[in-house]
Amino acid sequence: MNKIDINVSAVYKTVDADGLKALVPEAIKALDTVDTATGAGNDFLGWVNLPAATPASLIEDIEATAARLRETCEYVVCIGIGGSYLGAKAVIEALSDSFVAYRPSNGHPKVVFAGQNIGEDYMFELMDLLADKKFGIIVISKSGTTTEPAIAFRLLKEQLERKEGKEKVSQLIVAITDAKKGALRQLATEEGYKTFVIDDNVGGRFSVLSPVGLLPIAVAGYDIKALMAGAAEMEKITAQPDENNPALVYALTRNALYRAGKKIEILANYCPKLHYFGEWWKQLYGESEGKDGKGIFPTSVDFTTDLHSMGQWIQEGERTVFETVLTLQQQDHEVLVPTDNANLDGLNFLAGKRIDQVNKMAELGTRIAHVDGGVPNIVVSIPALREQYIGQLIYFFEKACGISGYLLGVNPFNQPGVEAYKKNMFALLEKPGYEKETAAMKARLADQG
Ligand code: PA5
Repeated sequence: MNKIDINVSAVYKTVDADGLKALVPEAIKALDTVDTATGAGNDFLGWVNLPAATPASLIEDIEATAARLRETCEYVVCIGIGGSYLGAKAVIEALSDSFVAYRPSNGHPKVVFAGQNIGEDYMFELMDLLADKKFGIIVISKSGTTTEPAIAFRLLKEQLERKEGKEKVSQLIVAITDAKKGALRQLATEEGYKTFVIDDNVGGRFSVLSPVGLLPIAVAGYDIKALMAGAAEMEKITAQPDENNPALVYALTRNALYRAGKKIEILANYCPKLHYFGEWWKQLYGESEGKDGKGIFPTSVDFTTDLHSMGQWIQEGERTVFETVLTLQQQDHEVLVPTDNANLDGLNFLAGKRIDQVNKMAELGTRIAHVDGGVPNIVVSIPALREQYIGQLIYFFEKACGISGYLLGVNPFNQPGVEAYKKNMFALLEKPGYEKETAAMKARLADQG
């Protein structure tokens, strides 16, 4: 197996094979709407061709910039939120040693993240960590005006300027933003930072295969050419207008389940390194589909950990859920369960077996139990945690998301709902220009006593 694969046979108790087949023409139409850019949000489809169309010169520029940061920095802080954060975080976590943060440096920088929250202690502790370290910054914001990363950048830029002197910092800061618009573009131009562009037609949550994801991933030491090659394989495969297209199958199956009353999709993994992949996937599907009073609610679990917390709910709670299981075919290391002469824990029946064999049986046992309990399963197999397969997986989910959004009848490429909290936050913080909203907010809060 040299590519990711999908199996939907464990949904047939809820929607049978004929039911799925009946949806194929509708799904092919939705695929065509994505590929011909004829649907709502069609000015945000630049991601569709990123794997095949990204010029080699851009990849080389990203690699050269990453090499410079890798040579000069002990830490590189990636500043960004949402689509300007989760893709890189997900890929780096999937490919990294689980304990990289605690291992001595291998001469290359550790990649850390900021601007993805407004935690005061988080910022204090990060700045404290960096106080005596040589560090660089990759600041990512498509709009260039998002509050969380802007605050983090203001603080870290000031810290870096104090440490290195204003002239030197332009060598240590890279900005990834709009080609022309926004405060970050203006600052980068004024200060002479190296920059990369986020194209107008690539939305944040679809931007991991652009410099937004590629630069941090390259700084962490991973092969972005292989990542893009894997994505390009999937770009080809998911253009097929038939049932051999895994993105089409995934999109139509989850919509068939939704129409049959399964309103919640749980992305389950059995590998701790895939935790952030779930976070990236939740943003991709949540922001793309949750609108107009519709949408499958995307959530994620890390098994077997969460079998000891969410397992009960999934097995016997409200029957409105289905699972998409990310199953990893191959581990990189072999660890066997040892024999213990006393056998007080009664585990000698496992002696000599690989830990992964135990994990795989936990996975199979859980899948069977959940299907028996009324939770249909979609299985997505990943050959191994390698750049090529991660690239395939990213593109597979992105393409399926576009198809699925059109099947659902929404514009998958906008996110009008994320503005509501910002308006209230700015009113509460008395941002200039928000005077009317501030007064209304104060009156409303006073009314509540
Ligand atoms: O997917 C999206 O568009 C959002 O999640 C954005 O990525 C997020 O809000 C960050 O925006 P920006 O890159 O403009 O700072």
